[in-house]
Amino acid sequence: MCGIVGYVGHSQALPVILKGLHRLEYRGYDSAGVALLDAEGKLNVYKCKGKVAELERHLEGKDSFGTIGIGHTRWATHGEPNDVNAHPHFSESGELALIHNGIIENFRVLKDALIQNGFSFRSSTDSEVLVNLIEYIRKTNGCTLAEAVRIALKQVVGAYAIAVIEKGNPDEIVAAKQSSPMVIGIGKDEYYLSSDAASIIDYTNEFVYLNDGEVAIINRNNPLHIVKLSGEDSPVDIKKLELSISQLEKGGYPHFMLKEINEQPQTILDCIRGRISPDTGEVILSGILDNMDKFLNAKRIIIVACGTSWHAALIGERIIEEFCRIPVEVEYASEFRYRNPIIHSDDIVVAVSQSGETADTLAAVELARKAGAFVYGICNVIGSSIARATDSGTYIHVGPEIGVASTKAFTGQVTVMAMMALVIGKALGTLPEETYLAVSKGILGLPELIAQTLKMSDQIADLAKIFTYAHNFIYLGRGYNYPTALEGALKLKEISYIHAEGLPAAEMKHGPIALIDAEMPTVAIATLDQTYEKTISNIEEIKARGGKIIALVSRGDDLARRSADYCLEIPQTVECLMPILSSIPLQLLAYYIAVYKGRNVDQPRNLAKSVTVE
Ligand code: G6P
Repeated sequence: MCGIVGYVGHSQALPVILKGLHRLEYRGYDSAGVALLDAEGKLNVYKCKGKVAELERHLEGKDSFGTIGIGHTRWATHGEPNDVNAHPHFSESGELALIHNGIIENFRVLKDALIQNGFSFRSSTDSEVLVNLIEYIRKTNGCTLAEAVRIALKQVVGAYAIAVIEKGNPDEIVAAKQSSPMVIGIGKDEYYLSSDAASIIDYTNEFVYLNDGEVAIINRNNPLHIVKLSGEDSPVDIKKLELSISQLEKGGYPHFMLKEINEQPQTILDCIRGRISPDTGEVILSGILDNMDKFLNAKRIIIVACGTSWHAALIGERIIEEFCRIPVEVEYASEFRYRNPIIHSDDIVVAVSQSGETADTLAAVELARKAGAFVYGICNVIGSSIARATDSGTYIHVGPEIGVASTKAFTGQVTVMAMMALVIGKALGTLPEETYLAVSKGILGLPELIAQTLKMSDQIADLAKIFTYAHNFIYLGRGYNYPTALEGALKLKEISYIHAEGLPAAEMKHGPIALIDAEMPTVAIATLDQTYEKTISNIEEIKARGGKIIALVSRGDDLARRSADYCLEIPQTVECLMPILSSIPLQLLAYYIAVYKGRNVDQPRNLAKSVTVE
């Protein structure tokens, strides 16, 4: 969703901002803009609908000098994506320019009050209301910009990360945040600002993560100064981030998604590195071991997540219940937060989030903490809001995921939850030693089996050609692979825009089988597991009604091969880890279908990678 980049220092701001905005493109957006303050104190704003490349064309030949500036990519919430609604927004007098990520919920009340005070508005955005509110306070109170921002934000209800610059104040950016991410990069007499540290990693590896309710006064002549909305000073806590630039580039692949799918042997290795002893198979997860008393006494585990992370959580639920015998509930974070959930102090709430910034998941974490539960995070992005808001957690360590469709994060999340279940189950005594060892050995063997699975890429590309023009798809799975079917269907929907539905195979006869005809292909996951024979029967029922079947089967399984029209054979591992292998051909199938349809695979329409508004 919306991305923010800012710079104040001694170099030209525009190249830094444009490079940062390009890095943020993966988050999803529909317009872009910059505001630059030049040496003569002129405040120029350039913005337009479309991609950053269009903004670059729009900037050609324009006065774009300035060593201080802010830039933005907008994902429309209030008002359609167009040039006027794009950020930055000028205040009425033209003295302030503001960029905003988030939603101001009480913008109507604020806007009416400003209109009564003589303000008028050019755009339909909530953000323009905020810049005018700041201007109004600045003028009526005769205070500094930072002070006006602080006072204005005390009146604001909602989520925001903002940055403001001002004519006649050529050394300073004022930034603030509430529920939306904001990080400040520290250079030498220069500062960078972004919604994602990765976008400014070329310049510095020292970052200050702004906390909710903080206002930062970023002045090139002074040390960074942070105040709380209450007016008290806040400590400046500088963190070092190790991230390599090559992780943010495509590395020869046509799309980030394909790169990320192919990275999975390595990302799973990174995820388990130092956590499973190759000699003894012992699993060590410090986040769990340090809080073992909480897990030993937990009456229930509630997992909250959204999107692909929610699918991973459904697999985690099955593994934890099987190995730990603790009841697990999986909730959409967006539902959980609004339904007055019952949370006890001996419940553990686990938040699963690749970005660590998903607004609903973050809100669910806050709710759970208020209710006194112990909150555990499973995130990918180091230092992200959810990682910081939870009591403890385990990073999945799969590296930056840029493609909007989540792939390597999903397999990393499932791997972490499997390791968690092993550690907790062992401590509880609910898990037989041989199962513990078989699964930990299974996890150690995943990188090799994933590499074997990826060799099917060409076969899947050929299969994708046959189905590129399908209008609908059904994905079936049972047990551990029911969530994989949901995930396979989601991948296809997200990037190819083909309607797809994931179902537990046995539910077909309760309604969906009515949809089956020659135009409705079914992807059936029928690997060798507890319900294998039953899934084969479900496949036969579909075949009998003229449906086309693509079956995902265990290598060498002839029975399933005979039942299906097309067969994809994958290696076999322990049952609870099979989703990690079976999800990979489904990622590739969605990928190739989307490519053949000419879709924008990495940035599908209407979607955002990091959903920082609810
Ligand atoms: C967005 C992304 C999905 C992701 C979901 C949850 O919708 O496009 O790929 O699964 O958010 O994101 P999270 O970062 O919390 O895992």
